[in-house]
Amino acid sequence: MTALSADAAAALRGRFVLLGVSGGIAAYKAAALARALVTAGATVQTVLTPGATAFVGAATFAGLTGRPAHSDVLADAHEIRHVAIARAADVAVFAPATANLLAKFATGLADDLVSSAFTCLTCPVVLAPAMHTEMWQHPATQANVALLAARGARIVGPDDGPLAGGDTGLGRLADDAAILAAVAAALAPAGGDRAGALRGRRVVVTAGGTREPIDPVRYIGNRSSGKMGYALAVAAAQRGAVVDLVAAPTALPDPAGVTTHHVETALQMRDAVVALAHDADVVVKAAAVADVRPADYSPHKLRKDGGGLSAVALAPNPDILGELGASRNGAAAGRPLLVGFAAETEREEQHGRDKLQRKGLDLVVVNRVDSRDAGFDVDTNRALLLDRDGRRTDVPLTSKAALAGVVWDHVEALLTGPAD
Ligand code: CTP
Repeated sequence: MTALSADAAAALRGRFVLLGVSGGIAAYKAAALARALVTAGATVQTVLTPGATAFVGAATFAGLTGRPAHSDVLADAHEIRHVAIARAADVAVFAPATANLLAKFATGLADDLVSSAFTCLTCPVVLAPAMHTEMWQHPATQANVALLAARGARIVGPDDGPLAGGDTGLGRLADDAAILAAVAAALAPAGGDRAGALRGRRVVVTAGGTREPIDPVRYIGNRSSGKMGYALAVAAAQRGAVVDLVAAPTALPDPAGVTTHHVETALQMRDAVVALAHDADVVVKAAAVADVRPADYSPHKLRKDGGGLSAVALAPNPDILGELGASRNGAAAGRPLLVGFAAETEREEQHGRDKLQRKGLDLVVVNRVDSRDAGFDVDTNRALLLDRDGRRTDVPLTSKAALAGVVWDHVEALLTGPAD
């Protein structure tokens, strides 16, 4: 029996949950999920893709939920089932969500009951992806997940562990407890129990990697995808903050409920951040800022042979956070509250503490960027939070959205600490 907190159980009681199941081996686990949702007091309407029915029968779900499970969009066509089910739903959870299902959802394809119902949904959506590691890591899948997350879907998992066919890796369906918690959180007001916790606060978040142009075709850049910064901006908005997102180039769509300022270079980012920081309560610098830029921009494409490409001189970029910290006269606990990120490959605590001191920060979020499931261009992260009061918090591997929540929890505590 899946353990569920009292709050989560209360959130599910009496609610209408649309459970969408697609055709992966993890479909068999959706039966246990259906059972757990029913046990928590929810009404569960199951819809299955044709692929899902190859793994688990509709009768299983009908027996567990006490309602017929549907898979045919054209059966009883007069009921316009995909619309009726979507309208009734308080929350929709798709578990497992295969790569194919995510691709359909991202593009709006509606060629079966599950995808047709999805395109009718106006309620919160939880997606629990499950597939082989290669499929999960494919850029198309990652782009689809990022798009769906930016549109507001909660992504839970996948986990690392045994997969079908004797393989092991990232791609395993999240466990029941995690999916149930995500469904309950989706039913709670935006921001969960922290909704409104940042109301009246102005926050500035930076994201992405700056590009420093060499000539019209080349630039110095880095591997930042912007996902962590975007997750932080969305989470702050959900908690009621007024959010300015200063975004260096990313492939992500502008998030809803946030004012996005697009910049390209470190100098442009500095100008934007310094201007916005005057009125801000918090500045979170998740952006990867290029430490150097070409000293001179060449308006003509540089030639590789004797044309200057191998002799491009570099000039240091300003340390934006360092400047903000110094302008508070180095006084931690002043305003705005400053949060930095530190991408490290070794001795992370030592480097993190050093950055906290050197830049005059209140909190630093240290990432290890040398593993494949954390850091650059993935949806998961693990981190070490170090604050000005010497506290340290380890955040094990989790989604970037969940890590954003932990960061804001800390920021809220620092904002309401002795400095206020
Ligand atoms: N940062 C900044 N301006 C810069 C460089 C970094 O504001 N020119 C910010 C980043 O946004 C991040 C933090 O400082 O929040 C740490 O970035 P990182 O690149 O890890 O640190 P550096 O100061 O560049 O130190 P080093 O490269 O020596 O590790």
